[in-house]
Amino acid sequence: MTTWSLRRLHTLDEKLIGELADVLIDCVEGGASVSFMRPLTRDRAVTFWRRVADGVAAGERALLVGADAQGVCGTVQLSFDLPENQPHRADLSKMLVHRRARGQGLGAALMRAAETTARECGRTLLVLDAVTGGDAARLYERLGWVRVGDIPDYALLPEGGLCSTTVFYRNLAPS
Ligand SMILES: CC(C)(COP(=O)(O)OP(=O)(O)OC[C@H]1O[C@@H](n2cnc3c(N)ncnc32)[C@H](O)[C@@H]1OP(=O)(O)O)[C@@H](O)C(=O)NCCC(=O)NCCS
Repeated sequence: MTTWSLRRLHTLDEKLIGELADVLIDCVEGGASVSFMRPLTRDRAVTFWRRVADGVAAGERALLVGADAQGVCGTVQLSFDLPENQPHRADLSKMLVHRRARGQGLGAALMRAAETTARECGRTLLVLDAVTGGDAARLYERLGWVRVGDIPDYALLPEGGLCSTTVFYRNLAPS
């Protein structure tokens, strides 16, 4: 049964920033390699989301969230802040689902919503990377993203130790 609803945020208040920080902290605590090392303090997480809020307000980013009765439980972003020779492209990042909401299809729903948003914004080529062989990489392959290849020793896991990343793309242009 679906227990969450999805929406695109165009502005963020402190309450939403706090809830997004909680999701990010939970993912890092759970071992996700999403730019941060453990322990991720609330201050650092809030600072991150304030910067995202600035990007959203500037139109450089699209931010999608899923919320349940407790508040935000999942999120994903599209970055449009790219060189002028890539006006058709967006980078997809910070796909995060709180552990309380996993395994219910929210990740897949956020990805589909991000693809719809990208099309609406005229972006037809999406690129992302994910830890090789992880839950997220499996999700992207299941949804039809094309696997480009692996980069060994790309980033550190939150507890330390290098991991490989896999680059994926998705072409949304009509064939
Ligand atoms: C990767 C991530 C976003 C997936 O989110 P999610 O909401 O659990 O994703 P889904 O529910 O769509 O799919 C997860 C699994 O649940 C299964 N599932 C989906 N709906 C289901 C349902 N109603 N009943 C049972 N299982 C279900 C899916 O088939 C999938 O199975 P698999 O893991 O065996 O492939 C989440 O694990 C996460 O946030 N991880 C940490 C952060 C991270 O690594 N982000 C990626 C950065 S690139």
